Amino acid sequence: MKSRRKFNCILVTGGSGFIGSNFIRYLLDENLVATHGFDGRIMNLDALTYAGNPANLADVEKQAGARYRFVHGSICDSALLDRLFREEPIDAVVHFAAESHVDRSIHGPAAFVQTNVVGTLALLEAVRSAWTSAAGAFREEVLFHHVSTDEVYGSLGAEGFFREDTSYDPRSPYSASKASSDHLVSAYHHTYGMPYTLTNCSNNYGPFQFPEKLIPVVILNILDQKPLPVYGDGSNIRDWLYVEDHNRAVWEVMCRGTNGRSYNIGGDNEWQNLRLVETLCDICADELDRKVEDVRGLITFVKDRPGHDRRYAIDCTRLKDELGWRQTVDFTEGLRRTVRWYIDNLGWVDNVRTGAYRDWIEQNYSDR
Ligand code: NAD
Ligand code: DAU
Repeated sequence: MKSRRKFNCILVTGGSGFIGSNFIRYLLDENLVATHGFDGRIMNLDALTYAGNPANLADVEKQAGARYRFVHGSICDSALLDRLFREEPIDAVVHFAAESHVDRSIHGPAAFVQTNVVGTLALLEAVRSAWTSAAGAFREEVLFHHVSTDEVYGSLGAEGFFREDTSYDPRSPYSASKASSDHLVSAYHHTYGMPYTLTNCSNNYGPFQFPEKLIPVVILNILDQKPLPVYGDGSNIRDWLYVEDHNRAVWEVMCRGTNGRSYNIGGDNEWQNLRLVETLCDICADELDRKVEDVRGLITFVKDRPGHDRRYAIDCTRLKDELGWRQTVDFTEGLRRTVRWYIDNLGWVDNVRTGAYRDWIEQNYSDR
């Protein structure tokens, strides 16, 4: 059994987005300290782009007290980063911040290069300056954890799986920018000796996901009885994982992963998009007491995404064999939980959909 790294002060970037907010919620949950062993502090640095919403952590911010600090700012702001590292005894960085939506990257790739590549470089430089001695040697007890995606490996045909040694072959501006950031992180390890771990995960779903990604789009359109857009013929395949299972894996890799290694994370859970949308229709019909055929009748085939990757499938044997990670949330149960979360949180949904959360950010976070 590998010994666990112990962190006291973690900088989470992008902690107000979907996965980052669930990660912070997990680590700051007092009831889970015995499980994950973290009782230190978390700094959340988030630029609050359209995808960042402080409401995702409003309750946590109230309960966590001194264990949590929110900093409104960008990973591209080197002066802010240097100040943060001077102010706080940060011994780990978990880097979630990114532009994350493939469709947006097709319409506007520049923002993806700016945040995912230039921003990651600025963060790495801040880390290098804060965590090295005058002679340039990196401290040993620190860790940079980079959160990445399976999309860096490209697209599979009917057979095969992405493994950690699969060559990178990104095909969208989003995945190309994430691949660049992965290479920069690994380059900082090989060139300067920065201790790091990296994870490449498949499609996440669960509470607080921004309603631009497939699962929340479908749930919210069913609630509003609007068409459910399925790209192409709906036969593209994704591997789905509940967000909590992803975050537990990230944490295990941070605590026990080998320095300088990457780990694939996936759900062994491949679904054709159309089948997934039909399943969501059936769950929603049941939860909302509507007829299945009425809900399925909303499915509408629309123009395909340009360069649409055909199939993703993950081999995460390394994570399972080395660290004993297993996913815990069954897919049907996870989908039902997610559907219920959106139904139970219509205030959050309305704020996001009307854009009211942006006004609230202006009023509350403009000077932080
Ligand atoms: P998200 O879009 O929901 O959240 C991204 C967060 O980053 C937002 O809070 C946003 O405000 C913040 N951000 C953006 N630019 C910033 C900047 N310049 N400085 C500081 N903060 C900034 O994304 P997500 O789905 O939670 O994904 C988080 C990470 O996980 C990303 O790196 C993504 O590539 C990776 N990932 C996502 C999935 C998935 O299925 N969603 C799967 C694998 C990996
Ligand atoms: O694989 C990990 C990646 O998963 C992450 O790195 C990305 O950040 C995340 O956004 C996600 O990328 P996808 O492009 O796979 O997710 P999205 O939810 O946008 O689409 C899932 C599938 O559903 C994809 O094949 C496109 C299709 N789709 C999507 C939308 C939004 C539709 O058919 N209709 C839609 O309206």
